Amino acid sequence: MESARDPRKRQISFRNEVRGIPSTTYGAFGLYAYPAKFIPQVVAYALDEYADPGMTVFDPFAGYGTTGVVAGIRGHDYELWDLNPLLEVLHKVATMKQPRQDVDRLITEMRYSCHEFIPDWPNRTYWFPEEFLPFLYRAWGFYHSLEDEEAKLLLTIPLLKVTRFFSLDDLYRQKLSRSPRSRKRLDRLLRGNWQERFYEKVRDEAYAVVRGIAEHHGLSPKPVRRTVRAGIDTLTLDLAKDMDILITSPPYLQAQEYIRHAKMDLFWLGYPQAVIRDLNKKEIPYRDVEPCEVQSDTYYRIRRQIEEEHLLGTFDAYFWGILGALTRLQRKISSYLFLVVGQATLRGRPVPIDDIFRQHFTALGWTHEITLVDTIVTRRMFFYDNNPATGLKDKRMRTESLVVLKKTIPHRVRMSCLHP
Ligand SMILES: C[S@@+](CC[C@H](N)C(=O)[O-])C[C@H]1O[C@@H](n2cnc3c(N)ncnc32)[C@H](O)[C@@H]1O
Repeated sequence: MESARDPRKRQISFRNEVRGIPSTTYGAFGLYAYPAKFIPQVVAYALDEYADPGMTVFDPFAGYGTTGVVAGIRGHDYELWDLNPLLEVLHKVATMKQPRQDVDRLITEMRYSCHEFIPDWPNRTYWFPEEFLPFLYRAWGFYHSLEDEEAKLLLTIPLLKVTRFFSLDDLYRQKLSRSPRSRKRLDRLLRGNWQERFYEKVRDEAYAVVRGIAEHHGLSPKPVRRTVRAGIDTLTLDLAKDMDILITSPPYLQAQEYIRHAKMDLFWLGYPQAVIRDLNKKEIPYRDVEPCEVQSDTYYRIRRQIEEEHLLGTFDAYFWGILGALTRLQRKISSYLFLVVGQATLRGRPVPIDDIFRQHFTALGWTHEITLVDTIVTRRMFFYDNNPATGLKDKRMRTESLVVLKKTIPHRVRMSCLHP
């Protein structure tokens, strides 16, 4: 059995190893708390250590789009995919030109705007006190009426964040859920001048975006080509062209429900209920997937220990989904696969996703260079105090592994290179 002292694994602190990105939340990286967003230093490390100039980068589970932001800073063309449509607007904000807007004037215009936007969300009264709703309809009415793209981008994250702050969602859980703690927050808000508080917070957040974008430009992003496909299902798509590097952090078993977390934002941004429902059905591992051959002893060893049928279903759906998609996509990757995974458990049983991925891709002919294990320090890790599915306390994720796999040049090709 493989142990923690496995020579193919090495401890690392990506934060300390990488030059040029001062902190994990610097620049565009700290603008929005996307669940399980990886730290930019992981991507920067992979590119600095392994990529050649001009190599293209692809992330099929891009989330917030960290891979793209780092690839741009390091000068690589990139392509990002994600089921979550938020990727599109969040990545536009992260890579926007330095905004030249008068923030205070924008807030005044929002205050006096008469436009109204009502989200297609029948359940909205469950999430917001009734006093807030007409007020939010006007704030978002102003947003949707904006024709100036830059002003709209500048206000997107502030409005999303502050709207959530004014909702009954518990901000300390990275899934949409009400709690006594969130009720208390709203009661406090309702006792004060909440209208003023709303505008103040939006203004402060807008200034934070202006600062973040200025920091981002201080990192000298290059004029690279980028393709972003948001709201798509990675399990059914193929790459249109070959890419050099795939770097991604797929979902970690059941650790998150991304669409469920994002749905409040999506409704206010104008996505209809039917679209969100449809996206929900495509999220890994909460969906049916076609079986795929998993080439890993560890996968089968753990599988044999799972007695509960529904857990077996989740376990299979997870690995079939991720490995099915990545097995198809790796054919179009010419140089490296970088797979970032956290520790995950299934009903308290550890599931070493990194080992399973490594075994599977080495069986497909990739060479395992190393697995680098980092300890998570600053990220506010999600986790439900109690996992609703099991009723068990969820353990916090403490480490995250970067599995580095290199495309093996077929023997015949290697020989012909050495002896032309
Ligand atoms: C761990 S997160 C990626 C976080 C990302 N590395 C970042 O820095 O923000 C995994 C992502 O997988 C996405 N996902 C889940 N099911 C998917 C599917 N069927 N197709 C595409 N993306 C999917 C989720 O929306 C989520 O953004």
